Amino acid sequence: MSDDKSPRPAAQQPTAEVSEAQIAVHWPEEAYFPPPPQFIAQANLTDPDIFARFSLDKFPECFKEFADLLDWYKYWETTLDTSNPPFWRWFVGGRINACYNCVDRHLPKYRNKTAIHFVPEPEHEAVHHLTYQELYVRVNELAALLRDFCGLKAGDRVTLHMPMVAELPVTMLACARLGVIHSQVFSGFSGKACGDRIADSESRVLITMDAYYRGGKLLDHKEKADIAVDEAAKAGHQVDKVLIWQRHPGQYSSATTPVEGRDVLLNERLRQYRGQRVAPVSLPAEAPLFLMYTSGTTGRPKGCQHSVGGYLAYVAWTSKNIQDIHPEDVYWCMADIGWITGHSYIVYGPLALAASSVVYEGVPTHPDPGRPWRIAEELDVNIFHTSPTAIRALRRDGPDEPTKYHHHFKHMTTVGEPIEPEVWKWYHKVVGKGAAVIVDTWWQTETGGFLCSTVPGIHPMKPGSAGPAIPGIHPVIYDDEGQELPSGSGMAGNICIRNPWPGAFQTIWKDPERYVRQYYSRYCRDPQSKDWRDWPYLAGDGAMQAADGYYRILGRIDDVINVAGHRLGTKEIESAALLVPEVVEAAVVPVSDDVKGKVPDLYVSLKPGLVPSAAIADKVAAAVVDEIGAIARPRRVVVVPDMPKTRSGKIMRRVLAAISNGQDPGDVSTLANPEIVGSIRDLAK
Ligand code: PRX
Repeated sequence: MSDDKSPRPAAQQPTAEVSEAQIAVHWPEEAYFPPPPQFIAQANLTDPDIFARFSLDKFPECFKEFADLLDWYKYWETTLDTSNPPFWRWFVGGRINACYNCVDRHLPKYRNKTAIHFVPEPEHEAVHHLTYQELYVRVNELAALLRDFCGLKAGDRVTLHMPMVAELPVTMLACARLGVIHSQVFSGFSGKACGDRIADSESRVLITMDAYYRGGKLLDHKEKADIAVDEAAKAGHQVDKVLIWQRHPGQYSSATTPVEGRDVLLNERLRQYRGQRVAPVSLPAEAPLFLMYTSGTTGRPKGCQHSVGGYLAYVAWTSKNIQDIHPEDVYWCMADIGWITGHSYIVYGPLALAASSVVYEGVPTHPDPGRPWRIAEELDVNIFHTSPTAIRALRRDGPDEPTKYHHHFKHMTTVGEPIEPEVWKWYHKVVGKGAAVIVDTWWQTETGGFLCSTVPGIHPMKPGSAGPAIPGIHPVIYDDEGQELPSGSGMAGNICIRNPWPGAFQTIWKDPERYVRQYYSRYCRDPQSKDWRDWPYLAGDGAMQAADGYYRILGRIDDVINVAGHRLGTKEIESAALLVPEVVEAAVVPVSDDVKGKVPDLYVSLKPGLVPSAAIADKVAAAVVDEIGAIARPRRVVVVPDMPKTRSGKIMRRVLAAISNGQDPGDVSTLANPEIVGSIRDLAK
């Protein structure tokens, strides 16, 4: 498995539009690290024939192995229905409930085992160990309340705007028990962003928490609920009930008063449902389980709809074989449940396998960068999962901290963005003490679960590469003209997946046309075709495949900036800036950042006659935070006299990106206003 191909510099790569890739860090091919024999000896998946079992000629029946990890009320009849491409339907005829599979079925064997270790951010607050029995009781009581007090039933949507607390998986599972479609919005998002998602999903009920700890402070969170409900109302949608969990039960920790007739303190109201049990609702395999909003090429976030049967089968199988989760493992994924990673690999995957899953409330480096290793030591965590951004921050703030603790990981994951080989090696040597396997998992909100990763008990690791496709996934890289790049060519192009898979999202909520257009139209061979082979899935990432079959992901090819492993739409940020009355034009570009991977730089131009000032720049930054959340806060706002433009008036973001990244913008002589480039460069210094 040798590889002597080093990647060509981005400028020579054949795809013209690989925007983030053009400023991505490029590094040479790295040497392999073999998985430790102790890991292989206990691994769930070590059979190299697995890839033959999942070859394309075994498709789609091979995915039976995924679905067989679950308990079905009724076994399915058709593995894959392709009659209405690209709206694939998996395990048709089957009936199932996700909550039953994550909770009830474990009770006979694991009643007293911890399902969720909730670790509060304040270190003096005790860790809460919720057993499967307790989870069962709390989920049932909440499901009874949702059904009988809120009148919710299968197919209704509920928006959750909850922080990282044990009540979040309890709430998701209570919804899943009833077939109610949950839409959890990342707690760091603003009330406005939450309101938009409430309106889009038409949720009549919002579930939130009064407050939570982050960075040493108890943040008022309920205040965002009031904004969210107002925003939804402006969009013509009314919220009937706001259910509020208390961070400290019995004590209300928000400065805003509950609204009479609308707001309900959940911890109190739940007392009326003590002891109630609700039978899990038997749902068709292709009923929606949840919506997860993500950024795309237009301003409006897309509600990715995931199914009960296919999704759960996919996350259970990948949790078992790529995360190597056994029921006796203590598994900690430090992502936020408000993102897809948390849904798939904190809640649904690990709990479907009866693992103990850690939910940590706060900032990894609070109160100091030794915190994660103390938590791992105390709970005896043996599988650890996080993002390159968190790894970079922990390395910067406490490069030797992991050596001070007696934690022992058998397995570690990175997800969400490319990881620099140097950072990977620190993770391996210092955090993993050289004894853990690492999987670099490439996937997306839309894909439900992993697409590319090494199988940890089979493949050697290669720093900086996500690895080959996982069993059952068959990628292809196309150039902009639709030609397939030869496999293993080392050339960059647009990565697609040839075949459907059970974890893939079913559609964009209320926008099936956009689903087809954005993901399936670009390389579709024949829009009339009923054959899945004619409908490759476009991931929207630039990628290259080395001769050994490992993929390296180069970044987005669309207008999305990946900040700290989280997708932000450039249009969303720009529209927020345009809300400031002084601003006439706004352009956002990704800037490489040592810790966060990418951060946004925002360029704005003002109405004629207005004088640029720091106050206007601050107003623009504040508008972005109000509209989207602190995660989107620009590194800086540069007020420019005019944007660099093509003769047809298009803003040349590439020129701005080069300036922000300290690179040469190249030949700008074809611009309508080439002289502006020098003045922008001076202003952006
Ligand atoms: O660009 C890829 C990057 O994150 C995008 C997906 O973001 P999101 O839907 O928020 O899901 C994040 C968690 C799966 C991808 O299109 N990305 C994700 N994982 C990797 C990655 N880039 C490089 N390496 C990865 N392992």
